[in-house]
Amino acid sequence: MRRPLVAGNWKMNGSLESVRSLLEGIKQGVGDVKNAEVAVCPPFIYIPEVEQLLSGSDVAWGGQDLSTESSGAYTGEVAASMLNDFGCKYVIVGHSERRTYHTESDQLVAKKFAAARAAGLAPILCIGETLEEREAGITNQVVARQLDAVIELEGVDALADGVIAYEPVWAIGTGKTATPDQAQEVHAFIRSRVADKSSSVADQLRILYGGSMKPGNAAELIGKPDIDGGLIGGASLKAEDFLGICTAAN
Ligand code: PGA
Repeated sequence: MRRPLVAGNWKMNGSLESVRSLLEGIKQGVGDVKNAEVAVCPPFIYIPEVEQLLSGSDVAWGGQDLSTESSGAYTGEVAASMLNDFGCKYVIVGHSERRTYHTESDQLVAKKFAAARAAGLAPILCIGETLEEREAGITNQVVARQLDAVIELEGVDALADGVIAYEPVWAIGTGKTATPDQAQEVHAFIRSRVADKSSSVADQLRILYGGSMKPGNAAELIGKPDIDGGLIGGASLKAEDFLGICTAAN
């Protein structure tokens, strides 16, 4: 049995004050969530505060990105070891916003996946197609290409140390959710592609759905056989909504 994971991706939102009240709210309600794992990924600058507030709780935390390099003259970058210093368990790699606005290639994302693993962090690898790609009927080709870049660099067993998030780009922050059947179809494809190389890795690999997941659609999405939780953007910024999704996963 794969234990569902609900991870909040706060993106570039919040303030010290809102971080404190959001975590207070999450901590108050998360006690009933026993059968799902919960994590939050704040902006880097708030991670030390999040560590203080969440230490000893059942909620894990992680970064939204990391450098491919371990240290040195890379202005503005954050290394995996630095995330480790502040208790991160997870780090998101290859989010579509990074791929789009920072032109991150599949190969660069694969290197980030490797850097995370090397430091003992669990990478959350985001993959997904744009609306144009879906309409052109090449969704599977796109997610296969994004996935294969990691498998080529790190080998299929490396996936066992991480998590995959299928995030159709057209569903992110748009209010347009993939239907449970649409999402399940791609999740099943991803799992079968991993299974071609290793059925045991495929069986244990958690594949999250991301893209306008809300309390109202979470249960139906996570109820699908190959959907093992969610990577939540907008709805992770309100304790009540985030907890609603955690409860659905539970
Ligand atoms: P959303 O974002 O839930 O706001 O659509 C998901 C994500 O980008 O991870």
